[in-house]
Amino acid sequence: MGAARGFGVDIGGSGIKGCEVDLVAGALVGDRVRIPTPVPSTPEAVAEVVAEIVERFGWTGPVGVTLPAVIKKGVAHSAANIDKAWIDTDAAALFAKRLGRRDGEVVVLNDADAAGIAEVKYGRPDDQDGVVVLLTFGTGIGSALFLDGKLVPNTEFGHLEIDGHDAETRAAASVKEEHDLSWSEWAKRVSRYIRGLENLIWPDLIIAGGGVSKKADKWLPLLEVRTTVVAAELRNDAGIVGAAVAAQQAAENS
Ligand code: BGC
Repeated sequence: MGAARGFGVDIGGSGIKGCEVDLVAGALVGDRVRIPTPVPSTPEAVAEVVAEIVERFGWTGPVGVTLPAVIKKGVAHSAANIDKAWIDTDAAALFAKRLGRRDGEVVVLNDADAAGIAEVKYGRPDDQDGVVVLLTFGTGIGSALFLDGKLVPNTEFGHLEIDGHDAETRAAASVKEEHDLSWSEWAKRVSRYIRGLENLIWPDLIIAGGGVSKKADKWLPLLEVRTTVVAAELRNDAGIVGAAVAAQQAAENS
């Protein structure tokens, strides 16, 4: 049973959520713990919260952690909605030290990549052929690109320039809230964004994730795009589950 369990922590601009994960079912084991993201969200302050969550579960195995950032070999190269001090921080080394783990026992990856890993593995295991893109609509727009089920990490498709604007500043779910847009007004913006993306990478399937995917029936039917767009199955837990999967895979390969 132990081998089929993992642990994931999903770091966002407002909350840090973690839980033990059943790696066979792709589901949380019991209730997740959520602690508000410290302000300022410096690496050290965030690492304290991550440690508190992991310790609350008494978890001693490998840990996967997401950040809203480009991550290469554990190092953050950008920082969206978290303190800019993250840039150039070796996040994997920082968490490993704070958690008392050896090198390689903590894996850090982009939040949308983690959500995509979970979604492709557990949500749509039969739809992995070709080019599949998961888009998370939240405070920003995150993306995860898969070719035949294999992740191409760190795509930042939320930052495509559409009509002279950074796409996520026009079409993220937060923009709908801020500007009080109706579903149809927002769906027009999302369509415009997806058409821009489609013209560049011609995906076979787009999976729409993020909190707003809970209300997919309100806006997916309004999209005017070429590609089939389906709602994510795992919703808000996808980041935690995907992080746990990534940590488990790294542990198996080391
Ligand atoms: C960041 C991405 C992140 C996404 C969702 C974007 O602003 O650039 O790295 O995945 O937000 O959090």
